[in-house]
Amino acid sequence: MSLKGKIILVTGATSGIGMALVQRLHRLGARPVLTGRNEEKVVRLAQQIGVSGYKLDVSREKECRAVVSQIEQEQGPIHGLVNNAGIWLEGDFEANRPQDIQKVINTNTLGTIWMSHAVLSHMLKRRAGAVVNVVSTGALYTRKGISVYSASKWAVRGFTGCLEVECAPKGVRVMGFYPGKVATNMYEIAGIDRDLEVAMTPEAASEMIQIMLGSENLVWGQVCGRNIKDYI
Ligand SMILES: NC(=O)c1ccc[n+]([C@@H]2O[C@H](COP(=O)([O-])OP(=O)(O)OC[C@H]3O[C@@H](n4cnc5c(N)ncnc54)[C@H](OP(=O)(O)O)[C@@H]3O)[C@@H](O)[C@H]2O)c1
Repeated sequence: MSLKGKIILVTGATSGIGMALVQRLHRLGARPVLTGRNEEKVVRLAQQIGVSGYKLDVSREKECRAVVSQIEQEQGPIHGLVNNAGIWLEGDFEANRPQDIQKVINTNTLGTIWMSHAVLSHMLKRRAGAVVNVVSTGALYTRKGISVYSASKWAVRGFTGCLEVECAPKGVRVMGFYPGKVATNMYEIAGIDRDLEVAMTPEAASEMIQIMLGSENLVWGQVCGRNIKDYI
């Protein structure tokens, strides 16, 4: 399916994968909506790229609902939602500060849930649309030093799998994207010096998401052997 003219809401689009995705979708003739928690960055980047932009902190439930309604009214029906906003936290669990733990869960996990809740009500009414949750290989394995980040993403993996089977028969595709290291500022922002020489580029990651959004016959569960008939 062509994404031409389709409205795609991208969260956390003021840098990294989200920004690359907005640029790519814009080049392809879709109508990406750039959103982010920092209003100054949102306005500047949306203007630079030539797309619409909205201030949106995904950790705030009421703001998610209000901004989604505003976009539906001002721009039109949201065809795609990319839950991309996310932050990193690393270090021994006992050294993680409670306020940082809360931020990671509020952004990575609850942010994805609030945005899905706000957008899915519109998509399900129309029986059309696609949601891509940017998860992580951190939700596929466990290792020391990333317990909270990992917990935040394992929760999103479960959420995504359940919603996928719940929404597919109602005409809406919900999928998870599981990248390994991507060369963005995510680690540096968290104060971690990470070697990103062998890492996916944000552009390559954004291409994967674009393919997921545009491939109508693709649902995540089919990759792990489930059939669309299993969902009904
Ligand atoms: N980089 C990797 O190696 C990697 C690997 C696997 C998965 N991921 C996932 O990929 C996604 C994108 O990360 P990235 O690598 O592109 O990192 P990034 O460049 O740091 O981008 C993260 C984006 O999320 C935004 N954000 C943070 N908290 C937010 C909030 N409460 N509300 C709205 N936006 C918020 C940031 O806004 P500001 O500009 O205001 O900071 C930024 O635009 C994340 O979910 C991350 O977990 C990344």
